[in-house]
Amino acid sequence: MSAPAEAAHEDALPEFPMRRACPYSPPADYAELRKAEPVSQARLRVNGKRTWLITRHDLYKKLLGDSRVSANLKLPGYPLQVPVPEETLQSVPLTFLSMDPPDHTVQRRMLAPEFSVRRMRELRARVQEIVDQQIDVMLAKGGSTPVDLVTALALPVPSLVICELLGVPYEDHPRFEKWAWAIMNHDVSDEERGLAHYELDSYVDGLVTEKESDPGDDMISRLIAFNRETPAVEHSDIVSMSKLMLVTGHETTANMIALGVMALLEHPEQLDAVRAEPELMQGAVEELLRLFSISDAGTARVAMEDIELADVTIRAGDGILPLNNAANHDERVFPDADRFDIRREARSHVAFGYGVHQCIGQNLARMELDVVYSTLLRRIPTLRLAAPADELRFKDDAIVYGLYELPVTW
Ligand code: HEM
Repeated sequence: MSAPAEAAHEDALPEFPMRRACPYSPPADYAELRKAEPVSQARLRVNGKRTWLITRHDLYKKLLGDSRVSANLKLPGYPLQVPVPEETLQSVPLTFLSMDPPDHTVQRRMLAPEFSVRRMRELRARVQEIVDQQIDVMLAKGGSTPVDLVTALALPVPSLVICELLGVPYEDHPRFEKWAWAIMNHDVSDEERGLAHYELDSYVDGLVTEKESDPGDDMISRLIAFNRETPAVEHSDIVSMSKLMLVTGHETTANMIALGVMALLEHPEQLDAVRAEPELMQGAVEELLRLFSISDAGTARVAMEDIELADVTIRAGDGILPLNNAANHDERVFPDADRFDIRREARSHVAFGYGVHQCIGQNLARMELDVVYSTLLRRIPTLRLAAPADELRFKDDAIVYGLYELPVTW
């Protein structure tokens, strides 16, 4: 392409992220891209850099299953979505979310048993207790004046659960929730985000150091003990693994709790069906995960070699964003994809990603969502929104989609 032609082409590239017009649907451009150009280019709003977007379900899986892509966010082509000064970026230690095999495999294997289906089955009774306690507090407020479900239930439940799992004192939650917020949101200055990383690192470092000499019955202590017996990683790796769990373990599930409750209350026919047949709840959880796809661009990669995909050549070094909100609304896999239908076979969704980095906490998230939705509907059958859904504030500006508040009454 000649220089002026290339410049004109650059100007024509759409900007990413694109906005959702409706909470139940992806940005309208995704459907057009999927049809016309399922592997296309866009320009990142945050820094003007080019990235590839992937909008088809089969291509999403193909790319994320390809060993020629890297998740390393320090690579120059990596499509970062928050502004991070280069110096800070290079100094932040990588978590295993951003590592490639074999380093990634070592840390993932150490943690995987903590999230097995069996472990989650054992944990369910404790999660039920936590949910019941939070709902007791809500019920004590009477229900005639609106209560914000985000602060009353959606945030404390996954926060309490991840604290117990890791062995983090829950009284510290205002601090780590604030740090996680600063790390995950666009609307934060570089200084604030840098400080949040630094403070969270020091906090978790202190916690791991404490458990090295005074272990408890928790995940961090088990990681330390396992690593003493079979040395595989350093102290700093256990700090970064624990930090990753703490951040990813509450904000994502909290957003799904609030959005899911809103969707159920807004669709009385679906709500009645799940009330009449509680065994439909597991399907409802999968459908809600698919429908909202809250971590839409959470699987950024860089091509390590040239990759041919749908007749397009992605060059080595290029950034790639496989979009799970686009893949999960691919009509060839999910007919009438924008419709919320708890009876649909939604299990092939990719809301938890795909390939070696597929969400390690997915069994925990599924179980928490199942317990929260089921218990809330059973214990507060008259629950309703205290504000029209179109007046709610959605997290359009955050890395993970969700609701800022969800006022409810009963
Ligand atoms: C509804 C809730 C959740 C959603 C939608 C979600 C989504 C995702 C996605 C899309 C990925 C893939 C990232 C990639 O490929 O680069 C991921 C990875 C991950 N998630 Fe989740 N997640 C959720 C809950 C959780 C919970 C509860 C935890 C746990 C403690 C967790 C821990 C992680 C970790 C550690 C990874 C990195 C895995 C790896 O790199 O091998 N997530 N999650």
